[in-house]
Amino acid sequence: MRIDILTLFPQVFELPFKIGIFQRAIDRKLIDVNIHNIRDYTHDKHHMADDYPYGGGAGMVLKPEPIFRAVDDLKKKMDIVEEESTIISLTPQGRLFCQAIAQELSFKNHLILICGHYEGVDERVNQYLATDEISIGDYVLSGGEPAALVVIDAVTRLIPGVLGSSDSLEDDSYTNGLLEYPQYTRPAVFREWQVPDILLSGNHAHVAKWRRQQSILRTLKRRPELLDKVKLNSKEKQYINRLLIDQSEEKLD
Ligand code: ADE
Repeated sequence: MRIDILTLFPQVFELPFKIGIFQRAIDRKLIDVNIHNIRDYTHDKHHMADDYPYGGGAGMVLKPEPIFRAVDDLKKKMDIVEEESTIISLTPQGRLFCQAIAQELSFKNHLILICGHYEGVDERVNQYLATDEISIGDYVLSGGEPAALVVIDAVTRLIPGVLGSSDSLEDDSYTNGLLEYPQYTRPAVFREWQVPDILLSGNHAHVAKWRRQQSILRTLKRRPELLDKVKLNSKEKQYINRLLIDQSEEKLD
């Protein structure tokens, strides 16, 4: 997958792509990341990438010309057909990012991410250039750069060959619609807190059942709305009903 990032702050991306799964994905040629400074596409003497908002108000708005120019230039250089690129504008007004969107994007060949700043980008970028607008949460960041990293991270780890074992994907929170079960490593006892016995038992079937139940329990306690969309077997439904009864009797800790 080719990834192009348009930003006013290219230095933000210098380190992340040298570490961890990003580095591995780049080394294995599974992703090819290119950072572009929007300011390089300004044509005026002062390299102005932003300007005052029409109608007044606080802050500055990113100008449309350099961003359109950057994308045109990319397409020309890469000989890319229009429909092949997914052009994402990162904005708090976008659709809320989630695992399903990460999955959808992981099948694309080419992502272009536009990082807004200040009061955002000129609306014509969102309307006529971007094919998608994405928000990573209901809060306002000072720029789209952290959001771009979040999106690229979640998407990259879904590309086959990036993670060591495909198992680690299946058990992820959200992949099966549930939050992930608790994980432990050595030592078995730390400050008198013991790892659950069942995980030391070596009985894989019991461990798998315990983990599934822990996932259900956690989801019920922390994100009950997620359970509506999860496929559960009849035993698991019974388990939930029991938990709900316990909860109503305030036995759930
Ligand atoms: N830019 C500023 N805030 C943002 C958010 N919540 N998501 C994506 N881009 C943003």
